[in-house]
Parts: sequence; C-alpha cells; structure tokens
Amino acid sequence: MSPVEPFASLQWPSDIIGRDAKQALAGQAARRVIATLADSAAAAPRIGLGSGSTSFLTLLALSEARRDLPPDVALVATSYEMEWYATAAGFPVVDLGADDVVVAFDGADQVDPEGALIKGRGGAMHRERVVLAAARLELIVADATKRVPRLGGCPLPLVLRPEGIFECVRALESIGVGPVALRTGTGKDGPVLTESGGVLADLLVPSGVVVTDGLDRQTRSVPGVMDTGYFAPSPKREFVAGYE
Ligand code: A5P
Repeated sequence: MSPVEPFASLQWPSDIIGRDAKQALAGQAARRVIATLADSAAAAPRIGLGSGSTSFLTLLALSEARRDLPPDVALVATSYEMEWYATAAGFPVVDLGADDVVVAFDGADQVDPEGALIKGRGGAMHRERVVLAAARLELIVADATKRVPRLGGCPLPLVLRPEGIFECVRALESIGVGPVALRTGTGKDGPVLTESGGVLADLLVPSGVVVTDGLDRQTRSVPGVMDTGYFAPSPKREFVAGYE
C-alpha cells in the first residue's frame, strides 16, 4: 500500500458521525449524479466534488458505480484531500476550466427552510463556492441533523487574508456579533491555511443570533475577508436530504 495514508486506502481519518444516514444519502446522490450526466450532452463532462465526510461517501458510491458514468468523465475537486481521494479511487481530476461542470455535489453543516446553508467546518468553503457556482446543478447532500429552523448557534467559518489580519479581526469584532477565533493546526504549529492561501477563522456567533444575508454582507464588507461559510439560497440548488 502507498505510504500516502489515509488517502490511498480511501479511509476517512476519523469516525464519521451518523455514517449510516450519510451512506444512504450518498447512494441516492450518486444515482442523481449519474442520471444528470446521462441526460446531459456535455462534450467533456465534469463533476464538482465537494469536501467533508458526506462528499467522501458519495465519492465512494460513485466509484462503485463507475461503469454507469461516461468513460471520459473527470472530477473537479474542492480541496487537496478530496483531490487525493478521487485520484486514489481511479478518477481523473482536473482544474476548474472552461469545460462544463454538469453537476457538483457537496455537504453542509446547516440547512434552513429557505435552502440557505452554513458550510466550512472542514475549511473548504471557498473552493466549494467557486466549484458550486460553476456547476449547472448543485446537489447538497445533508442528513437530518443538518436541518435547522434558522442558521446560527454555531460558528460562522471565515477565510481571511493573512496581510493585515490584526486590523481585519479588530474590524470584524467591532461589528459586535462576537469574537473571532483563528483556527490553529494540530499537525502543524500556527494558523490553518486554505488551498487558496487564506487563513481559516470562525466568527463565534452567540446562541440566539441568526446568521442572515445581512450579517453575511456586513462581515464581507470588512477588508481582508475573502469568504465566509454562508451560502444564500440558489435556484439551481437541489437537496438530497434525510428529511421532508
Ligand atoms: C467542508 O468545508 C464543509 O463545507 C463540508 O461540506 C461540511 O462541513 C459538511 O461536512 P460533513 O459532510 O462531514 O458533515
């Protein structure tokens, strides 16, 4: 076995919380991806590959159904780990280019009744946003634990520019929602950086404060904020969810 573990053996590095529920949805999502590709006339079909454990299980389900996918299909990954899992599973992985991303699938941390999301527990939300935006269809795979009446009660993930970070955090905190905590590594001293070179942080939203479009806009207006984990509802978003 290759020394590049856990990617080469397709093992998620920790126990997957609610694995059975996620697994069932992953199978449904894989079938939806296959049907969408079968209906598309894309010359060079691309699938956007989200990050997180639900996306990982969906990737495994797609790998098992490989014979039902177009032979020339390629994946566009939203993080290094998913790029490496996809490669280990035998899929070609390509950069986001001009080719059609027919469908992209991804998980979420919270889903509200209007279809707005909080994402970014795993820190991949910036590339996830870019790949989801490029796709004709967004498939959000979310088990019942992700459904909330209102977004909030959890941190709002942030990607910040490293330059001027002290001033950026000061300005974010002066909005008055809550403190900002930088994420720090366990396998590395210091900050956790995204694939795009941003610094991962969390706005610690107090319980009772709802994460809205307005709060997101206020947050994004601070110079140095590259992205947040708030995803507004989208007409091209479809859910594979463990609830009505
Ligand atoms: C990755 O940064 C996130 O946006 C994930 O998509 C989200 O956290 C869902 O993760 P799980 O599928 O592991 O719950």
